[in-house]
Amino acid sequence: MPLVTSTEMFKKAYEGGYAIGAFNVNNMEIIQGITEAAMEEKAPLILQVSAGARKYANHTYLMKLIEAALEETGLPICVHLDHGDTFELCKSCIDGGFTSVMIDGSHHGFEENMKLTKQVVDYAHDKGVVVEGELGRLAGIEDAVNVSDEDAAFTDPDQVEEFVKTTGVDSLAIAIGTSHGAFKFKGEPKLRFDILEEIQKRLAGFPIVLHGASSVVPEFVETINKYGGDMPGAQGVPEDMLRKAASMAVCKINIDSDLRLAMTAAIREHFAVKPDDFDPRKYLGPARTQIKNLVRHKITNVLGCNGRA
Ligand code: G3H
Ligand code: 13P
Ligand code: ZN
Repeated sequence: MPLVTSTEMFKKAYEGGYAIGAFNVNNMEIIQGITEAAMEEKAPLILQVSAGARKYANHTYLMKLIEAALEETGLPICVHLDHGDTFELCKSCIDGGFTSVMIDGSHHGFEENMKLTKQVVDYAHDKGVVVEGELGRLAGIEDAVNVSDEDAAFTDPDQVEEFVKTTGVDSLAIAIGTSHGAFKFKGEPKLRFDILEEIQKRLAGFPIVLHGASSVVPEFVETINKYGGDMPGAQGVPEDMLRKAASMAVCKINIDSDLRLAMTAAIREHFAVKPDDFDPRKYLGPARTQIKNLVRHKITNVLGCNGRA
C-alpha cells in the first residue's frame, strides 16, 4: 500500500469516536517500535517528522525508513511534517513525498497566520497533500520556538470558522491547555473541554488536532529518576482526558515526549544493570521494545484506533 493522506483516517475517526496517533520519528528504532505495534494492533498511523528530525536524520533517510515500514506492515501510513513554520519548509516536504504538512502560523497574528496557511494550502492541495493549521498558542518548547506560559493562549472559538473557510485547511490544531514537553501542568491537570465543545459545535464534522498530548508516563519518569535523572514535577495529560477528547472532535493526538521518555528509561535501566555493555544493539533493542509496548498501550487504551486499519 502506498503512503496515504489523513483524509479517510480522520473521517472514520470522527464518526467512530476515536483518534489516530501521530507519533514523532527520529531514527530507525523509533520507526520500528511504532510501526510494529500498529501492525499487530491493525491501527492506522501518522508518522510525523519535525524540522529538527529532518536535520538530525536527513529527509531521505527518514523517507526510506518509512517506505520500509510500509512494505513490512502493509498499514495505511500518513507521513506528516510537524510544526512547519515557513512556506519553504512545507514545500520542501511536499516535494519530497510527505502526504501531509502542518503550517504552524500560530506565532503570527490572525491575518498573517491565515495568509501563510492559505499559501501552503494552495500549493499542497495542488499536489494532493493535506494541511493542518493551528490557531491558539501552546506553551512549551519546540525546535526553535520557546513559548512561555504567559505567551500561551487558548484558541478563540470566534475565529475558527473564518480561519478554516478562508484558508481551506483540512484539520485544525487548537490550544485548550496542553503543552509540549514533560512539564505540562503546575498543579492539577486541567483542559478546557468547554472550548473544544464550542469549536466542535461551530465546525461540525471537522477534524481537530491535539498537540502536547503525552501523558508523561509516571513509570518512565520514576525509572529515569531512579538511575540518576532529576525530573521533579514532570506531569502529562491524564489518559481519561485524552480518551474524552478522542470521543469528541479530536481525530489526531500528537505524542513525542512519551516516546523519548520510554527510550531514555530503557537505556538508563540497561546501563544501570550492565554498565560495561558497548554494543548499541544491546541497549537500542530494549529501547525499541519499550517504544513498541508504549505505542500498543496508546493505541488500545487511549486512542481506541486498534482494528481500524
Ligand atoms: O512539538 C514538538 C515535537 O515534540 C518535536 O520536537 O522539534 O525537538 O523535534 P523537536
Ligand atoms: P508532547 O511533547 O506532549 O509529546 O507533544 C508532541 C507534539 O505535540 C508534537 O507536535
Ligand atoms: Zn506539537
